[in-house]
Amino acid sequence: MQPDRGGGPRDAAAGLAAAGAPAGPDVARALDLLALGGLDLADYRPAALAPRLEARAAALGLPDAAAYVERLREDPAELARLADALLVQVTSFFRDPDVFAALDAHVLPRLLRRAARENRPLRAWSVGTSTGQEACSLALLLADLAPAAGVPFEVLATDRSEAALAYARRGDYTAAEVASLPPARAARLVRDARGGGRLPDDLRARIRFVRHDLLGPRLAPREAVLASFDLVLCRNVLIYLAPRAQALALARLAEVLPAGGALGLGLAEGVPPGCGRFTPHPDVAPGLRLYARTADGAFAAPAPAP
Ligand SMILES: C[S@@+](CC[C@H](N)C(=O)[O-])C[C@H]1O[C@@H](n2cnc3c(N)ncnc32)[C@H](O)[C@@H]1O
Repeated sequence: MQPDRGGGPRDAAAGLAAAGAPAGPDVARALDLLALGGLDLADYRPAALAPRLEARAAALGLPDAAAYVERLREDPAELARLADALLVQVTSFFRDPDVFAALDAHVLPRLLRRAARENRPLRAWSVGTSTGQEACSLALLLADLAPAAGVPFEVLATDRSEAALAYARRGDYTAAEVASLPPARAARLVRDARGGGRLPDDLRARIRFVRHDLLGPRLAPREAVLASFDLVLCRNVLIYLAPRAQALALARLAEVLPAGGALGLGLAEGVPPGCGRFTPHPDVAPGLRLYARTADGAFAAPAPAP
């Protein structure tokens, strides 16, 4: 059963007020418009919206937030820009290197052995992928591990921000962005004249970037509903969500992970106590926030390595 999400823009306005931000009539009207456009800030931890309205008004040469809200009514592109501006999109290649080392050494080899035994591809999902570096990092790990296991792989990468996905689909990363790649991984990139780089086409073709709202009315994109995943990374997304929305998100992720599948959260996130669907992954330090999906709420120890 899905938790009752209830709420709405008025709840979000109340949240803003509770956080000390002024929830005046401009903020309330902007929240209404954002909710009509599909971003219900009641799902997110309260953020200071009023200063952003004023900043956007100034950027557009409008006199004040009230004028900006009038503009929002007739300018869906600006509404989408504001929605994007409210979602934090910071990311990097191999963000939290210890997590990717654990995926490389323990989690992915185990999942690949299972996929090989079941004679099927390995499927991974990067939820809230932002501009795609997380999905590319996974693909770079799998490019080395999967051929040795004799297993093909595919990566679904989703985000609710179309602007972030457009960047991810272009796939041209700057020199500063590729600087966080370990040298051996960076060697796989096709480099450009300015020191940036992109994944080689064969690897890039393993990733599909699809717009998807984890909290949206549909459970998941067609690609996710119709298939289950071996690994889901949903890193640094839950931290921005209100507790009710976190519970909804985790329930949805549990639905697409079979027992023994793996879930990765951000280092400042975690599965709440009492959630029987995930248990710390048996092969890695608990602080890395890698979990194994349990069978029907009870811990199902993944099969020992052959
Ligand atoms: C801080 S970034 C995390 C990027 C990457 N996962 C990482 O850890 O480096 C958070 C991303 O979550 C996305 N996001 C926020 N709410 C979302 C939702 N309801 N459904 C899908 N993506 C969402 C944002 O657009 C943003 O790109």
